[in-house]
Amino acid sequence: MRLTAIHYAADSINLFEFRPVNGSPVAAFEAGAHIDVHLPNGLVRQYSLVNSQDERHRYVVGVKRDPNSRGGSSYLYERLSVGTVLKVGGPRNNFRLHESAAHTVLLAGGIGVTPIWSMVQRLERIGHSWELHYATRRRSETAFAEELARCGDRVHIHVDDEFGGAVMDIGAIVAKVPSTAHLYCCGPAPMLASFEAATRSRPRGQVHVERFSSSTPVASSAGYLVELARSGKVVAIAPGQTILEGLRAHGINVPSSCEQGVCGSCETKVVSGIPDHRDMILSEEEKASHRTMMICCSGSKSDVLVLDL
Ligand code: FES
Repeated sequence: MRLTAIHYAADSINLFEFRPVNGSPVAAFEAGAHIDVHLPNGLVRQYSLVNSQDERHRYVVGVKRDPNSRGGSSYLYERLSVGTVLKVGGPRNNFRLHESAAHTVLLAGGIGVTPIWSMVQRLERIGHSWELHYATRRRSETAFAEELARCGDRVHIHVDDEFGGAVMDIGAIVAKVPSTAHLYCCGPAPMLASFEAATRSRPRGQVHVERFSSSTPVASSAGYLVELARSGKVVAIAPGQTILEGLRAHGINVPSSCEQGVCGSCETKVVSGIPDHRDMILSEEEKASHRTMMICCSGSKSDVLVLDL
């Protein structure tokens, strides 16, 4: 796809628009979905789609300029210019909107507003009940401010600076949410921790989180074999290696990106064996089914793990 435009959305947040080089329609996508942007420096980064799901001529993603960038946002901001052609994968969705909910409560922090804004557009489109609580550090860092202002009192923006640096009170927000509502949160790690603490007593199927990083250590204990069902190859995973690293060491490349179990790029079907799940994407039910796994971070509880590779 070609990078066709870069627009300012807020301080340190730009919107990047990609259109197919050949003018064909883009693949349909749902609220909460992201694309994989393959950068010329070899990195692959996931960015949430922020344009309307009705649009089929382009993808638009919101990207925050990260001062601690590992090469993703700094490349997009400093080296990428309009007109550049890039490989774009997806769309994929690890943060699905449950459209049957009677009421939806959305919580966003900073750049975490991007998948949440996508959900707001969808909920508006289908006329469902929703409310948004969006925290930013400074007013100038509030993305989609004009659009959100048109949504009236369903939108609650908390600017830390205007409260003497105090962060949004997630416990107080969640306490008022009806028991049948679904709740969604995307933001920095401390915000997600507060959200998880506040929602602990609610049914798991009604609580949804999108993460940028993982605090769970990867599985790196050795002593098991990985068999590749399609080629018949067998790889012994060495001490300290993840499955992804073990396969790479044998010249077997599987798509990957975050290598922390938060993006879903490396999801692989399990033919047999018992994975040791360490990702932040699969639900407890999906993990218990042993049908699929993220091989960048998860290991094996069985001596042999057969993967659909
Ligand atoms: Fe992101 Fe495995 S590479 S989940």
